[in-house]
Amino acid sequence: MSEQRSVASDPRHSTGGKQIDITLEVWRQPGNNAKGRFERHEMKGVSTDASFLEMLDGLNENLSNAGKEPITFEHDCREGICGSCGFMINGQAHGPDRGTTVCQLHMRRFKDKAHLVIEPWRAKGFPVVRDLMVDRTGFNKIQAAGGYNGVNVGNAPDANAILIGKDAASEAFDAAACIGCGACVASCKNASAMLFTSAKIGHFAMLPQGQPERYRRVVRMFEEMEKQGFGACSWTQECEAACPKEISVKWISRANKDFLKAKLVKDSGGSSDDGFAG
Ligand code: SF4
Ligand code: FES
Repeated sequence: MSEQRSVASDPRHSTGGKQIDITLEVWRQPGNNAKGRFERHEMKGVSTDASFLEMLDGLNENLSNAGKEPITFEHDCREGICGSCGFMINGQAHGPDRGTTVCQLHMRRFKDKAHLVIEPWRAKGFPVVRDLMVDRTGFNKIQAAGGYNGVNVGNAPDANAILIGKDAASEAFDAAACIGCGACVASCKNASAMLFTSAKIGHFAMLPQGQPERYRRVVRMFEEMEKQGFGACSWTQECEAACPKEISVKWISRANKDFLKAKLVKDSGGSSDDGFAG
């Protein structure tokens, strides 16, 4: 299927920047069990000032105006903070820029006459809902298995009431920067969710509030990760390269260490339910 589409007349796409023509091959799939296929769209006069999602908005408007089904893709904040957006562009999760979500990617990054293949995350743990949208319930289940503090500490205290060293607070924040987008899974040849899971584990492991359930948490979250169909980590580190928040693989090493400790304590007669100091 080949269609001529122009987004130059849309005010969002004609803010005075350069204009380029691109060819899109977009994955279309009406449902999880339906057969999918690539659909070609020739886009003329795309402003290089437009974001990638604005370019897709323009295409969707044209499709709707022609009485056709628009392309389904997820988005919310469009500021790189919510984790809703994400798909593969020419085989790269979130596109060619490091540390950038697809909602922050701009068309100036592409050359005139570029040929862009757009596909959803492909992983057993992320079944396709429709077109470029996948079901990331697996991530929610991993989080629900232990990514919380279950200790009743009463009302929220003042932010400075629990004294936490600057280094620990900064490191916890680095891990907490994970937005749950799923690019790490999509870029891993094993579709492993280790970077996501270990970032969530590491966030709590750095803080005093995370200590009471620290070892129970890692076991539960690792077990849930496997249950949700995500693969094992074989340390190719592609996840770190693809992560728009640049989450480090050091969190995987740390979580593995905690998992080992939890298992050793349990196997030697102790209980991994009871936390012990790092
Ligand atoms: S670790 Fe990075 S790539 Fe993976 S879900 Fe979190 S933000 Fe996305
Ligand atoms: S839409 Fe929120 S991170 Fe992209």
